Amino acid sequence: MLLITRDLPPDVMARARREHQTRELHLQTPLTPQILLDKLDGVDAILCNPRDKFDAPLIAALPASIRVIATLSVGLEHIDLTAAAAHGIEIRNTPDVLTNATAEIALMLMLMAARRAGEGERLLRAGQWKGFAPSFMLGRNVAGKALGIFGMGRIGRALAHMARGLDMTIHYHNRNRLPPELEAGAIYHADDSSFLPAIDFLSINAPGGAATQGWLNAERLAQLKPGAIVVNTGRGSAVDDEALIAALQSGHVAAAGLDVFNNEPALHPGYLSLENAVLLPHIGSATVETRNAMGFLALDGVNEVLNQV
Ligand code: DGY
Repeated sequence: MLLITRDLPPDVMARARREHQTRELHLQTPLTPQILLDKLDGVDAILCNPRDKFDAPLIAALPASIRVIATLSVGLEHIDLTAAAAHGIEIRNTPDVLTNATAEIALMLMLMAARRAGEGERLLRAGQWKGFAPSFMLGRNVAGKALGIFGMGRIGRALAHMARGLDMTIHYHNRNRLPPELEAGAIYHADDSSFLPAIDFLSINAPGGAATQGWLNAERLAQLKPGAIVVNTGRGSAVDDEALIAALQSGHVAAAGLDVFNNEPALHPGYLSLENAVLLPHIGSATVETRNAMGFLALDGVNEVLNQV
């Protein structure tokens, strides 16, 4: 039996019900051991998502019948992989299929932040637009600027491809330099100290977890050019919120576009009053096509494990 923690797109639910007996929790709140543990009778697979935290104590409490946890995400930081391996539970995720959708959101946030789109729309809806004026709501050009990508994985590279259409120069910072065919002319920086001062736009596309925790802190923000624009579609944990809010307040960072936050959905309240912050509710992969593809891939992962003898 397949336990599904939260509602999935209709086509994915339909396929799950066709292929499995399902137990559906329809959760709207965080997953807790109290909610989960008495619902696992006869369950051998769990289909979850980044909001469902499977830490070591919860994994240790799962019955031996659980053979696979599939998550509707590429990110895996909500699952303790070591604990899962120790309990013989296989983990499946959904890489590749959300690459373009997430890169699109990063590009959109760059454009919205630079062109003050959120601010303009709020003003118009509030009935405060007085008409065209030459000095009204001036933003910054995106075309021709230097884009710095922190985390040049699949999504970072898809964003680079899109940004080349805007004649942007691509810089990137990664643990390791990419081979030339993946780099596609992008300029590699081994160090933050050469990367950050070289760029006009910073896009965080790195995964969450200990290696990137609090990466964009006050010290690194200070190394950005005055007036730089910051976009994050990776994980909120890569940003020190207090430091970014201070940089947005001072104008050192001209604008930010954020789709992911620490402590989602309870983001730092300091962002809410900042006109120069474009804030989205973690919708990087939220298209019908992409969420269907993620759901189908997660189900493929479940089936692959359950079909192993
Ligand atoms: C992921 O896949 O990790 C995203 O954050 C959810 O779209």
